[in-house]
Amino acid sequence: MKAIIPVAGIGTRLQPLTNKVPKVLINVAGRPMLFHLIDELVKNGKIDAVILVVGYLGDQIISAVNNEYADSGVKFEFTEQKEMLGLGHAVYHAKEFAKDEPVIIILGDTIFEFDLNAMLSCPTSAIGVKDVEDTSRFGIVESKDGLITKMIEKPAPGVTISKSAIAGIYFIKEGRRLFEAIEYLMYNNIRTKNEYQLTDALMKLVEDGVKMSPFEIENWFDCGKPETLLSTNNYLLNRDHNIEGEYLSVNSKFIEPVYIGNNCKIVDSTIGPNVVITDGVTIKNSTIKNSLICEDSEIENAELDGVALGIGESITGKHENVMKADEIITKF
Ligand code: UTP
Repeated sequence: MKAIIPVAGIGTRLQPLTNKVPKVLINVAGRPMLFHLIDELVKNGKIDAVILVVGYLGDQIISAVNNEYADSGVKFEFTEQKEMLGLGHAVYHAKEFAKDEPVIIILGDTIFEFDLNAMLSCPTSAIGVKDVEDTSRFGIVESKDGLITKMIEKPAPGVTISKSAIAGIYFIKEGRRLFEAIEYLMYNNIRTKNEYQLTDALMKLVEDGVKMSPFEIENWFDCGKPETLLSTNNYLLNRDHNIEGEYLSVNSKFIEPVYIGNNCKIVDSTIGPNVVITDGVTIKNSTIKNSLICEDSEIENAELDGVALGIGESITGKHENVMKADEIITKF
């Protein structure tokens, strides 16, 4: 089975964190978010080839994946989306890779807990869904008798077809027809919100008589926004908390769950709960909770709660619910 993972996007909602690192390589609970996803595919055993559609800071993704999964037994390929023309357009770059076979498509900035084997044994194509309150931010599906009848990408406020949101994982048995449907959108310049949407291509398949079922995803963690990035971080830390690297701690207190990477120095500080500190971070005389601290940053005389600190940044003083990198502070 082949998998397509689009990871070309700029990650504007996570700026300035994404100024130096692509969104999918941001560390969540001790591991880049993309690795949480690929780990599941590798573990599954049925996926033998994966293509990543790269774009923004794509070289970093290519070398990270090649290093991490060199001995995984899964073959990795990469293709470049040069213009961000939407998810349908990104997926289209995998046409040659997929050939006429069934494919799994998974968005690179989401982490899932669900039974992939159950999805792969669906008799029809299947789209991962989960009920949401605010339907205007998602692709929404309507179904009848176990089959999808309608899909709308980010419906306008007041337009409600259901609460069932497309969670970013798709199992498409009719691979060739999917690429034809995307081609149809591109040839006829059919865009929604100025992009060639995967949802629109899938809707065309439904209209053309392809059977698709909604498949309930147990847990779906969107990592694409500051508040969901930190809540996903907290959830995964609480799930897998005994993960840590080699670091130096002097006169410091740790309140679990906490993840600390390699080569960190922590002096006279209280860390936790729900804190991820990645490699090479120095912390002195500070209190940190509910925060994500990226590589090589320095924290001194600080009190942080709900802070995402970018690579190589310095911070002092009291901060709540902010993302900080390149001297920009964005409240969320
Ligand atoms: P998003 O819609 O979250 O876009 O894409 P984004 O660029 O990552 O983030 P924002 O909206 O600017 O904050 C969901 C997934 O689809 C990929 C993204 O890389 C992400 O993994 N994608 C999206 C592409 O590969 N190409 C596209 O043209 C659009």
